[in-house]
Parts: sequence; structure tokens; C-alpha cells
Amino acid sequence: MVSPGHFSPYRLGVLASGGGTNLQAILDKCDSVEIPASVAVVVGNNSGCGALARARKAGVPAFHLSEYTHKAPGALDRAICEAMELHEVDLILLAGYMKKLGPVTLSVYADRILNIHPALLPEFGGKGMYGERVHQAVIDSGAKQSGVTVHLVDEEYDQGPIVAQKVVDVTPQDTAQSLAARVLEIEHELYAEVITLFARGRVKIQARKVEIIS
Ligand code: GRF
Repeated sequence: MVSPGHFSPYRLGVLASGGGTNLQAILDKCDSVEIPASVAVVVGNNSGCGALARARKAGVPAFHLSEYTHKAPGALDRAICEAMELHEVDLILLAGYMKKLGPVTLSVYADRILNIHPALLPEFGGKGMYGERVHQAVIDSGAKQSGVTVHLVDEEYDQGPIVAQKVVDVTPQDTAQSLAARVLEIEHELYAEVITLFARGRVKIQARKVEIIS
């Protein structure tokens, strides 16, 4: 599949659970046309999360959809997919979203769902590897480098094919907090670069292999 860069504007759907700094960076970069796209909808699984507040402040449709709002088996999956389709989303971005996606969303948006992870996958990923735990694990391992990974989303945590990575050096003085702060800045850059590649139709995905077309 080649991402449809010729359709304008390219529409993003963001799923988030936390503070929403990645969402904010995407909103800002879409506004300043650094990213040739717009955020069409934001879904949060936590009604009080910063990401939903940021979306509403920016005038973007924002919905709380969770296991609390949709208790029946499969209902949340269908609701998330419907929200994306209703807002004519081209590309779904997980930005600090802590839940797995269901089979309906994964199949309707196959090869069009990205996640950002604050380390160099396949190391330091998987269930329970989020927030400062990731950075503490990197420091404890003695690794000299960490970084950021953007990857396609599948049914497992942090396992889909890698689209892009950027390296961040780890210093002997680093704490989990200081490393997290430096990595977060790079997350905001890398997500913008990858979204732009998709929006410009420069990402080809075939049989789960990702190729960037120059
Ligand atoms: C980021 O570190 C991202 O890599 C991870 O969750 C965090 C979300 O941060 N998946 P924010 O809510 O975007 O500030």
C-alpha cells in the first residue's frame, strides 16, 4: 500500500491516554504547515487526560472512549474505528495510548496505524514498558545509546515493523527523568518527520515490509 499523499488535506486521528505533549507538537506543526496534514479527531481512554484537554483547546473533536464508556465485548473497538472513519482519518497515531487496539480497527486501518516508543525497539519494549520504567531499564542496562522508535501497530505491544528510529546518547549523569526529557524532544521531531512521509505518499508497505520512497 502506498499512503495517499495526493489527497489533501491528509487527516490524522490521534489516540492518547496521558499528558499529550506529542499531540500538542503534532497540532502545532500542522498549524505551522511543518506537517502537511491536520488533526481530525482525538480519542482518549481517560476522561481527565491532558491530551483531551489540549484537543478541545485547539478546537479539535475529542472523545473519551474507554472500557467504561463501552463495556460490551468489541464495543470499544468498533467505537474507536467508527470515530476514525466518521472523521475521514487517513492515518491513526498512538501518542501515549496505553491500550491494545481491537481487530476491527487493526483490520480497517491495516498499515495505517503508528505508535511512538521512547527507546530503540526491539529493546526496552513490550507490556509494562512505559514511562520512566523504559528509561530506568536503559540506564540499568548500561546502554550508551537510547532513542525513539516509530513503528506500525499490530496486536502486540511495541512489535510491529519499524518505520523510523533516532538515537539519543545516554550520559553517565543521566537519570530516568533527564533521559526521558531529552528523548521526548526527539519524539516530537521524529513523529512529525514520519507523519510527513506518510502524508506525502512516501511510505510503501508490502507484506509488512516498510520502504521509504525517495
Ligand atoms: C511518550 O513518551 C511516548 O513515546 C509514549 O508515551 C509518552 C506519551 O507522552 N508512548 P505524551 O502524552 O505525548 O506527553
